[in-house]
Amino acid sequence: MILIASSNGAVGMEAGWAILQAGGSALDAVEAATRPVEANPDDHSVGYGGYPNVLGEVELDASIMDGTTLQAGAVGALRGFRHPISVARQVLEELPHVMLVGDGAAGFAAELGMQPENLLTPPAEAAWRAGLDGRLPEEFRHAQGQIMERMLARATRLATDPERVAGTVNFIAQDAAGRPASAVSTSGWAWKYPGRLGDSPIIGAGNYADDRYGAAACTGWGELAIRAGTARSVVMYLQHGYALEDACRAAFHDLGALGLPPEHCLMSMVALDRHGQHCAISTIPGRTYVYQSSGMAAPAELPRLIVPVTGS
Ligand code: GLY
Repeated sequence: MILIASSNGAVGMEAGWAILQAGGSALDAVEAATRPVEANPDDHSVGYGGYPNVLGEVELDASIMDGTTLQAGAVGALRGFRHPISVARQVLEELPHVMLVGDGAAGFAAELGMQPENLLTPPAEAAWRAGLDGRLPEEFRHAQGQIMERMLARATRLATDPERVAGTVNFIAQDAAGRPASAVSTSGWAWKYPGRLGDSPIIGAGNYADDRYGAAACTGWGELAIRAGTARSVVMYLQHGYALEDACRAAFHDLGALGLPPEHCLMSMVALDRHGQHCAISTIPGRTYVYQSSGMAAPAELPRLIVPVTGS
C-alpha cells in the first residue's frame, strides 16, 4: 500500500492512510485524504480559504479517477461548496457523465444534501484586494463593479499572478488489493477570469490513473498540462515501457514544445507505477512531497527531483 501527495497534502495523510490500513479502497482513501486539505483555511490554493477569481469569487476545481475501472468524476468552477472532491466522486458514482461545471455542479452538490457556504475567508479576501490594488491601474480600482465587469479580460491579464499557481493538492493511492486511484483539488489561479478551468478537473491533463500502468497528478500552471496532456502522457510513456522516472521526465520534456520561456514552465507532478514505485518531480527548486507506504509508521517528506523544462 502507498499514499503519495503534494506537500500541502500532509494534513490529509492520516485520514487517507487510515482507510488503506483498514482494507479500504484507494478511491475512498484519496477522497478522504483530500477533504482535510479542502477544509484547511491556511491553504490558499485549495477549497475553503482559497484565493478567489478576479471578481472575488472562490471557484473550485477537482477530479478523481479510479484506475481499476477507468471511471472518473470532475467538477469545475464550483462555487459555494468546500468539498469539490466529494462532488466529483458523486459525479463518478451517480451520473452518466464525467464533468459538471458552474451552476450545474453547484446544483448537483445541493441535490446531494451538501451545505452551501461562503468560502472567501478574510485573509483570502484581503490578499485579493491587495493584489488588485497592487496591479491594476487607478481606473480599475475605482471601478470594481460595473466598469470592472466590462474590463474583465484586461483586469485578469494584469492581476493574475503566476507565482500563485503552484498550489493545488494531489493524492495518489494504491490499496492492499493493488488498485490505484488519484485525486486533485484546487482553487486555481488567483485573480483568474471567472469560469477559467485549469488542469485539475481535466482527466488526462492534471489527473490520470490506469492500473495496467500507473498514475500521475499535476500541480502548477494548469494551462500547460492541458495543452500537453501531461498526466495521461506519463501513463502513456509507462505503457510504452519507460521506467517511472523516465516517463515523468519525458512528459516534462514535452512541455518544452509549448514555446514558453523556462521561467514560465511552473509544473510539479507526483506519479506511481503499477508496482507501487513512486516519483515526484518539479521544475521549481525546493519543492517537496509526502508519502507513506507499508511498514512506515508515519508519512515522510522528501525533496522532489528538479527537472527544468527546456525547449524542444
Ligand atoms: N494546476 C492548477 C491550476 O492551474 O488551476
